[in-house]
Amino acid sequence: MTKRKILITSALPYANGPTHLGHLLEYIQTDIWARFQKMRGHEAYYVCADDAHGTPIMLNAQKQGITPEEMVAKVSVERQRDFSDFHIEFDNYHSTHSDENREFAELIYNRLNAAGYIKKRTISQLFDPEKSIFLPDRFVTGTCPSCKAENQNGDSCDVCGATYAPTELINPRSAMSGAEPVLKDSEHFFFDLPAFEDMLKSWLRSGSIQQEMANKLDEWFAEGLQQWDISRDAPYFGFEIPNAPGKYFYVWLDAPIGYMASFKNLCDKKGIDFDAFWAKDSDTELYHFIGKDIIYFHSLFWPAMLDGAEFRKPTNIFAHGFITVNGAKMSKSKGTFIKARTYLDHLNPEYLRYYYAAKLNSGITDLDINLEDFAQRVNSDLVGKVVNIASRCAGFISKRFDGQLSPDVAEPALFDEFSAAASTIADMYENREYSRAIREIMALADKANQYIDAAAPWVLVKNDETQKQAHDVCSMGLNLFKVIMTYLKPVLPNMAHNVEVFFGTTLNWDEVSTPLVSHPISAFKALMQRVEMDKVNAMLEESKDSLNSAPAIDPNSPLAKEPIEAEIEFNDFAKVDLRVALIAKAEHVEGAEKLLKLTLDLGGETRQVFSGIKSAYTPEQLEGKLTVMVANLKPRKMRFGMSEGMVLAAGPGDKEIYLLNPDSGAQPGMRVM
Ligand code: MSP
Ligand code: ZN
Repeated sequence: MTKRKILITSALPYANGPTHLGHLLEYIQTDIWARFQKMRGHEAYYVCADDAHGTPIMLNAQKQGITPEEMVAKVSVERQRDFSDFHIEFDNYHSTHSDENREFAELIYNRLNAAGYIKKRTISQLFDPEKSIFLPDRFVTGTCPSCKAENQNGDSCDVCGATYAPTELINPRSAMSGAEPVLKDSEHFFFDLPAFEDMLKSWLRSGSIQQEMANKLDEWFAEGLQQWDISRDAPYFGFEIPNAPGKYFYVWLDAPIGYMASFKNLCDKKGIDFDAFWAKDSDTELYHFIGKDIIYFHSLFWPAMLDGAEFRKPTNIFAHGFITVNGAKMSKSKGTFIKARTYLDHLNPEYLRYYYAAKLNSGITDLDINLEDFAQRVNSDLVGKVVNIASRCAGFISKRFDGQLSPDVAEPALFDEFSAAASTIADMYENREYSRAIREIMALADKANQYIDAAAPWVLVKNDETQKQAHDVCSMGLNLFKVIMTYLKPVLPNMAHNVEVFFGTTLNWDEVSTPLVSHPISAFKALMQRVEMDKVNAMLEESKDSLNSAPAIDPNSPLAKEPIEAEIEFNDFAKVDLRVALIAKAEHVEGAEKLLKLTLDLGGETRQVFSGIKSAYTPEQLEGKLTVMVANLKPRKMRFGMSEGMVLAAGPGDKEIYLLNPDSGAQPGMRVM
């Protein structure tokens, strides 16, 4: 067999939020495949990384009062612990916020630019004037233009299902500040995807892509490819575009480049030849495992970018479906949004690896975790069939036969039948038909149990004349068990490891046809406990709790509309110098729709402040009132003059603005703490 060189990736998880059972489907599917390829003796590498960039991550960090780098680092530690506890074994786990990734992103961009594939044009987008930031679609909310439902997202309506541009929303609001967004122009950079249409069509025909993916792609080609907006304006957490100050690569531009970056990082550590895997004329294999939601990025943008920048393209892209739990989308309220960590606190990770393997095939259809079925399946297959083979034979070998396997193979034909299944099972793993592989393996397990049932070693050991037979039968049973565990090793690496310790030998794919004879074995230890429904239910309960423990917030309450900002230190607060101020004068400002001009007396010092409270107060209502002002706010030049501070008021705006008043007795100039 020729030794293949294979680079395998899973999608790079956003460094934002916890790992859940949906993610794990992908990492387990890929890990099984990578382990299988390595077991077959190929030179295979499995790499991944955190997808660190983008607006949601930037804002999430802001909310927590930490830098994006700090947040990414924190999430990465938890993420990698989750993965490793599920026995997902990467050759390298890196980050898109890395030197390697910056270098490759710049290199690819520069090559695309030099070849004329980057176009620039000015577009108009919604902008949050308060936060000074362009708003991604999902950060705009408003009334659906179609059914008039309120509080809908910027791209689609949850009530009637309409899709639209955020600019079509009625009464749009920034989800960040509640401010009314304004349209603002900015120059954006576009990747000329349509220029690659012919290349993409022939590339897709050249491989054997999944049928469902081919159908999707046909639809997209029929709709026509569009130029892809790859730039975002500051503030943005990402890489600045070369020679374009204030412009950043959109997260999806540098995300797939993270596959290269992580591999480069591995090459540098291990002395692997990077170019052998990525040069245009590479004859190695490259596979991306992804979820069905990100096919567009991987089957159109990514190969086009690689082609335009003179790198090799993927050999194939393997998409999988989404996880549902008990027949429905994972739900926080039902407790079926199960985090990796919550699962691990209650259940053995190999149950899930096995269950996924037993259900996975090469298609894109969704996959349901039915928790009753999960328990039943693991118990009957792994505990009832597989482990049972060993537990029925091992004790006798230890107790009666000195811990030595027999020098003879009792049923060579049966053994050959087991080892002959290797190539069929290998093909099934290779083609990602894991469920078929598992069915095949379980059929063997049934056969092994039937053999032991019929031979009944527990009867044979009772008679002196049949001692040798008992020894042979138990040894035969254990040899069949060894073949089965070799086939299951990619799925159950930890259990396989314990079996290796038991046999005192490694489970190798190409040794399935060699039975162990006159071979010492160790004492048998329980390999796997049954799944207890109590633990499954405890996991569901905890999944509910972890999310409901925060007090429920009325979705219409002011707090829901404007969540409390990130915690600050007392010293940060003390920097804000709040003073009691007397509104000595309040005046209309010519040409200003919302502003009143206030003259504030601080007891010895006067300030001029422009305040946007005209919709709620007349000047007469204000004159003579005490209020509170920020006295050390840096003066701001406004269209109508300098504003030297700010008065404090509460409310969403318009008629609902409530100026803060100190209790009677307060004197102008008093410090507010
Ligand atoms: N950061 C992008 C991928 C960039 S790849 C260059 C991303 N991240 S993700 O964290 O949202 O998802 C990571 C992977 O998990 C994706 O392939 C996604 O399809 C998969 N899944 C996320 N939720 C899932 C389910 N509920 N079920 C199955 N897979 C799911 O997308
Ligand atoms: Zn609607």
